Amino acid sequence: MNKQDFPVFAANPGLVYLDSAATAQKPQSVMDAVQHYYAAENANPMRGLYGLSVKATDAYENAREAVRNFIHAGSRKEIIFTRNATESLNLVAYSWGMQNLCGSDEILIAVSEHHSNLVPWQIVSQRTGAKLRFLECDKSGSFSEESLKNALTMHTKIFAIAQISNVFGALNPIGTFAEICHNNGTLIVCDGTQSVPHIPVDVQAIQVDFLAFSGHKMYAPMGIGVLYGRRELLESMPPFLSGGEMIEYVQRESAVYAELPHKFEAGTVNVGGAVGLHAAIGFINGIGFDRIQQHENRLATLAFAQMRDIPGVQIIGSSDAAAHHGIITFTVDGVHPHDIAAIFDADGIAIRAGHHCAQPLHQFLGVPSTVRMSIGLYNDEQDIDRFISTLKTVRRRMGYAG
Ligand code: ALA
Repeated sequence: MNKQDFPVFAANPGLVYLDSAATAQKPQSVMDAVQHYYAAENANPMRGLYGLSVKATDAYENAREAVRNFIHAGSRKEIIFTRNATESLNLVAYSWGMQNLCGSDEILIAVSEHHSNLVPWQIVSQRTGAKLRFLECDKSGSFSEESLKNALTMHTKIFAIAQISNVFGALNPIGTFAEICHNNGTLIVCDGTQSVPHIPVDVQAIQVDFLAFSGHKMYAPMGIGVLYGRRELLESMPPFLSGGEMIEYVQRESAVYAELPHKFEAGTVNVGGAVGLHAAIGFINGIGFDRIQQHENRLATLAFAQMRDIPGVQIIGSSDAAAHHGIITFTVDGVHPHDIAAIFDADGIAIRAGHHCAQPLHQFLGVPSTVRMSIGLYNDEQDIDRFISTLKTVRRRMGYAG
């Protein structure tokens, strides 16, 4: 767990990277695995009746098994490889939503959702007539069980919520929420993008119906993502994309679709990405979630305690550092978030400014944009020191007296 494992830091001396919630840097082991695949095992999987194609197929299916094991799914058939969490959530919205929703139904969405778990549902709502409703949070980003119970009606067919918010860093009690939803006959679709890299996730324990996440935020390459879905739901859903490899048999006018998971994996799949994701899971498992959480929490607490003492800095969300899961979103009085990010960039520090793909949440917070620092496994105390040193100078560098 140090910077030497991540080549990007040798290539960019002095870089302080605090934007892991947007994408994580990649360890050498992940790059080596991808390089090995392309150097030694590349072929089109599942199609070729020759040894190299079998190797590619094995690499891909071994990655699927690693994902199944990582999130404790019951079956490999429940693991669908996609491009990213956005595609996974679109798959649920289009395939399940278009087939199961009609004008009298309601879709409940947590107000803090990333646009990926909102905009697909807006489109499904426009096409089916199902009504969008929103679950409001408090200023710390928490949703109460009571408010969820009150928001659910006999018409609520699905509830969309992230396990960890990409703005607040708050962890939602998904297991409890799933139980409440299921008692109401409502499904739950969970965005695990910010949780799966940072906390142990067991889909059978938390009883989600769907869980989406991206490889690139968990130290894997961009372009590989996962949709977990309960088997009987996936079995009942029509294909999302269609064409090669997702069929059993095709005639002129119709086709018989392939079994799960291939029904949802049309076209040539991203074996290199899956191999990288497999290696990233090995990297995370090699460290272990106890150490990961302890490391991220220690650095977040260190930053948090000092940020609170800097005049003009307003932290968004909980006043408890441990509730942020390594994500600290903030504003600085009188300074535009883009100017803040530019000042940090001038000091070699990468943080994100903007609405973080969560504009309805920013409307709820009453600010158009914010700044976010987010912690990864390569960060250390020196990174936090440099972050705090720059943050202390922001108002002065914008011309304020203090
Ligand atoms: N979803 C990513 C973020 O929150 C891009 O930054």
